[in-house]
Amino acid sequence: MKTQVAIIGGGPSGLLLAQLLHRHNIESVVLERKTKDYVLSRIRAGVLEQGLVKLMEEAGCADRLHAEGYEHDGTLLSYGDEMFRIDFTEHTGTPVIVYGQTEVTRDLYAAREKAGGLIEFNVDDVVIHGADSDAPYVTYRVDGEDRRLDCDFIAGCDGFHGVSRQTIPLDVRREYEKVYPFGWLGILSETPPVNHELIYANSPRGFALCSMRNENLSRYYIQCSLSDKPEDWTDEAFWQELKRRIPADQAARLVTGPSIEKSIAPLRSFVTEPMRWGRLFLCGDAAHIVPPTGAKGLNTAASDVHYLYHGLTDYYARGSTEGIDRYSEKALARVWKAERFSWWFSSMMHRYPDQSEFDLKMQVADLEFLRSNKAAQKAMAENYVGLPY
Ligand code: FAD
Ligand code: DHB
Repeated sequence: MKTQVAIIGGGPSGLLLAQLLHRHNIESVVLERKTKDYVLSRIRAGVLEQGLVKLMEEAGCADRLHAEGYEHDGTLLSYGDEMFRIDFTEHTGTPVIVYGQTEVTRDLYAAREKAGGLIEFNVDDVVIHGADSDAPYVTYRVDGEDRRLDCDFIAGCDGFHGVSRQTIPLDVRREYEKVYPFGWLGILSETPPVNHELIYANSPRGFALCSMRNENLSRYYIQCSLSDKPEDWTDEAFWQELKRRIPADQAARLVTGPSIEKSIAPLRSFVTEPMRWGRLFLCGDAAHIVPPTGAKGLNTAASDVHYLYHGLTDYYARGSTEGIDRYSEKALARVWKAERFSWWFSSMMHRYPDQSEFDLKMQVADLEFLRSNKAAQKAMAENYVGLPY
């Protein structure tokens, strides 16, 4: 089989890239290791920057997002019983949209299916060949049959554990990593959100986040130990712990109920450089991971897709290699800023096992400076709603 762009990974990066390329008459094939249902069962990000919303519009996939997503003009930060608000629209003129990654992915799958785009599910043993040559190809196995996909370019959209990054030789690739000494335990429950805006809480018992998907679907997270398992936490224990970490008036209003999903995610900052090797381009979690505080993971994947799709459309439309040649440099410049923001926000909001009294005072000073300083609020708001592409 032959295509123009072989896309490894059918998560949001791979699907969005495929759909955007399709709108410019560029053919692709998506290779996904899991089933569609499995991909759609993963509960992940919930906050979309305008940049991602615009890409979904360009992809022709934004109708449901506009109809069902919620515009948020600000967010709340608490420490102990103190709480303050960062106003996004006042400082940037831009809201964020609360709309789940699951729904983004569902809309992209629907668009690929409508357009007759080829997605191979349940693929195994994906191997990239000749990425540094003029004739790259991908081999894989599906239904016990070995297949080969020849292409002009390969987009590695296969997440942190994929094969694409590993294909780049170690003497070319440089990796930067910070692992955090805690995880996030998240639940989804069919209950009304405790507040109409998100609450990020720094408490002596650890971080908590009150988020949502819609009026009757809440997403809550609490910082937990890396050794915890979801099954160690009954729903009752989760709700009790969450209530202890958010301001008392919010805790009193919290509506609890059975969880319909419960999972633990570790926290990591990770960047690989460069994001291009020959005809292979890394996109999204395949190239970088942020700790979730501030919801930059999916949004940073989207900005990579933006740079790559423009590079590829310029190449096919005008024969220009400038966009693809500068892809890694442009994507990484924005990636590192998202890394900085997510690291800073995580550092300010979590309890660390080895935190000294001095460190705790620094967190409070950081929060109180943010609370009282318009310039700091503006900087936070600009980062939260998304830096320009
Ligand atoms: P992925 O979504 O990981 O998609 C990669 C796809 O490639 C997957 O479907 C995978 O099955 C497939 N794949 C992997 N290996 C292969 C292979 N060898 N061959 C073929 N296919 C392959 N971000 C936030 O902003 N907020 C959150 O709350 C949040 N929660 C998260 C929770 C978890 C558990 C994780 C892992 C991430 C979370 N993120 C969150 C990050 C966000 O979800 C990611 O940044 C986003 O999914 C990146 O999209 P992607 O398409 O690049 O990668
Ligand atoms: C969500 C996750 C985040 O990491 C975040 O900062 C905000 C919202 C969420 O899943 O809703």
